[in-house]
Amino acid sequence: MKPVMIALLGGVALAVTGNGVARNTAPVPTTPAAPATAPWNNQGLSPDRRAGLVVAAMTLDEKIAMVNGTFGSKLKKTDPNEKRTGAGHVPGVPRLGIPDLFESDASLGVANSGAMRPGDVATALPSSLATAASFDPRIAFAGGAMIGAEARAKGFNVLLAGGANLVRDPWNGRNFEYLSEDPLLTSVIAGESIRGVQSNGIISTIKHYALNAQESGRYVLDAEIGEAELRESDLLAFEMAIERGRPGSVMCGYNKVNGDWACENAHLLTDVLKRDWAFPGWVMSDWGAVHSTAKAASAGLDQESGQELDAKPFFGAPLKAAVEAGQVPVARLDNMVRRILRTMFAHGLVDAPAPTTPQPIDYAPHASVAQRAAEAGIVLLKNEGGLLPVARTAQRIVVIGGHADIGVLSGGGSSQVQPASGTPLRLPMPGGGPLSGFIKVTYQGAAPLTAIRARRADVRFVDGNDSAAAASAAKDADLVLVFAEQWRTEALDLESLALGGGQNALIAAVAAANPKTVVVLETGGAVAMPWLTQVAGVVEVWYPGERGAEAIARVLFGEVDATGRLPITFPAQQSDAPRPEVPGIGNVKAAAEAAKSAPKRTDLSTVDITGGVQGFRVDYPEGADAGYRWYQRRGVKPLFAFGQGLSYTRFDYAKLRLAAGEIRFTVTNRGARAGSDVPQVYAAMPGPDGRPIRRLIGFERVILAPGASRTVSVRFDPRLIARYDTAQPGWVVDAGRIPVGVGRNVEEIVLDGTLPVPTMRLKP
Ligand code: BGC
Repeated sequence: MKPVMIALLGGVALAVTGNGVARNTAPVPTTPAAPATAPWNNQGLSPDRRAGLVVAAMTLDEKIAMVNGTFGSKLKKTDPNEKRTGAGHVPGVPRLGIPDLFESDASLGVANSGAMRPGDVATALPSSLATAASFDPRIAFAGGAMIGAEARAKGFNVLLAGGANLVRDPWNGRNFEYLSEDPLLTSVIAGESIRGVQSNGIISTIKHYALNAQESGRYVLDAEIGEAELRESDLLAFEMAIERGRPGSVMCGYNKVNGDWACENAHLLTDVLKRDWAFPGWVMSDWGAVHSTAKAASAGLDQESGQELDAKPFFGAPLKAAVEAGQVPVARLDNMVRRILRTMFAHGLVDAPAPTTPQPIDYAPHASVAQRAAEAGIVLLKNEGGLLPVARTAQRIVVIGGHADIGVLSGGGSSQVQPASGTPLRLPMPGGGPLSGFIKVTYQGAAPLTAIRARRADVRFVDGNDSAAAASAAKDADLVLVFAEQWRTEALDLESLALGGGQNALIAAVAAANPKTVVVLETGGAVAMPWLTQVAGVVEVWYPGERGAEAIARVLFGEVDATGRLPITFPAQQSDAPRPEVPGIGNVKAAAEAAKSAPKRTDLSTVDITGGVQGFRVDYPEGADAGYRWYQRRGVKPLFAFGQGLSYTRFDYAKLRLAAGEIRFTVTNRGARAGSDVPQVYAAMPGPDGRPIRRLIGFERVILAPGASRTVSVRFDPRLIARYDTAQPGWVVDAGRIPVGVGRNVEEIVLDGTLPVPTMRLKP
């Protein structure tokens, strides 16, 4: 939809896109005045040609500066641009009219840890898992467009967004920032969110390339996996997300992959990304992920980021010396710079730069984007006796625990947003440690209790610290809502999927006192539910973002349907997962123990972000069968399957028609109320032992009025049913008929048939 001009704020035109997202469109003061007559300012030339012309005009020092990113430490405190520094800064070339890169985190909103700039707020989306649970590319695009608009208005031109690592381990501390276990779903949601960000004339990354699947020991671990298995899983997610979203930059991760650091891994960076996928943008390192100069540059790393976190500078002066000594060819340095510049030209960073002073942001429409995402991602997992939506007759409600009287939980780390609507509570991270200055347990937005009280007069709150008191308060209620929380953060994994702090006992006690108990889960991923059979309802709301309270209330009270579907498996027990325990956790603990008695460092000229953790190897025996595919391969029934989620209405699937390359079927809303469903198409492909394992090959979120029907047509990417053959190399599909099913989730297939497929050989 064409942007509709709605307001002129402070001389800056704001437009609202079809998604209700404000976007700066008017000219704003530019960074350096570009020499208009310079040949590279001819907008009729291609971005590559323009970049080539700039490279030819640059000095060696200017080139070296452009591939050397810092936190902003190179900007003097008196520099007006100092205020624009977020997570990263890279100097431009003012004399040639090339702006600096101002980089900020990221996927859940313009991050602002608050420790750095109190009062600097932004709109907080729900966690990425929630967005993925919508199975809706439009929700992902709208979220990305919103964040990109705010980033731009704040003067940023690069957003460190696009977390696309597959969820392989249910305990990963950063799962809330990732999207799913599945390459297709991950690529659609990541791709659309990146497209949304970049629709603002700024650049988005995709990260953390690749196999950065755990937080414990992330700076030292070596992730080992076979080439075919990697191509068919994590790399496929990145490959398809890059095709869809066209991010300007790829951020390489901290870990090693098959023996080489991800940021100096020639196979990943040069062979796969730049050769096979013809990626035209640039590779930036994660903050502190560089380990060498000539090796990294030759392997395909184009830019060192957050150099202060590297053990020492590897690009900058050492790179200049390596170029002068002929260890890194000038042509390679030129290529690094050219990739950055061509991307800046392609995304408008030079022709229409981000504003140099912060522009006003109208947060109200952005909050609506966050609320729609939260609503669409809420997953109703259990609803015995149709206890939800809350009946009119349910007048006396007791709300228990989870800080529901304060706000909603969010995940910690670099993605943390201080929402425009408030940060009502920040608690120290459990266990303390060196990260505790930066990472806090943060509650966002308004209190769910307030949103519930807006809908019923008789609502009592009990904090849940005393199970017996909670049970007694719950006893005579018409409905009990227990809010339970599981906090996750970047840099730490969970050692257990169990809810902490006596919450399991609390839920069991409350449910025993009153069977009309619904558990509302604010979690950053899978959680164990030992009390599942005792409660009537379970609603997974993830970290629902700054409008979470309202979204939760709207779903609970049926003002909108419960429409989310699980983008990850909830295992029945932790031991069912491919790695029940966190690999290397012993090394992490040993290092933490040693640090306690180590003398305080006095020489701060070098950094050691590893915290002294000894390196270790992590194996991925599940290979390409990450997540739900692993549980099928092992014949293990999960607690809740990938794709699972209930609606307040009922949907029928019928009239399956399978023709070459196309799967068609009809979805009908058989219930009495409007609702939304996500029919999922799976192909059953032979696993390692020949037994079939279902893979998601298509899905569609369908919103239907009562009685209404819609025909859904799914065309799928052949790579989703192919195997990767390293000998060719490339993708192989053998001619035959493949079993295809349309289901409500991976375990509940409603329609099935076989689809003829021809022989296919595809280049990598
Ligand atoms: C994280 C990245 C983030 C970067 C900059 C790193 O520690 O892994 O996701 O973009 O910091 O804040």
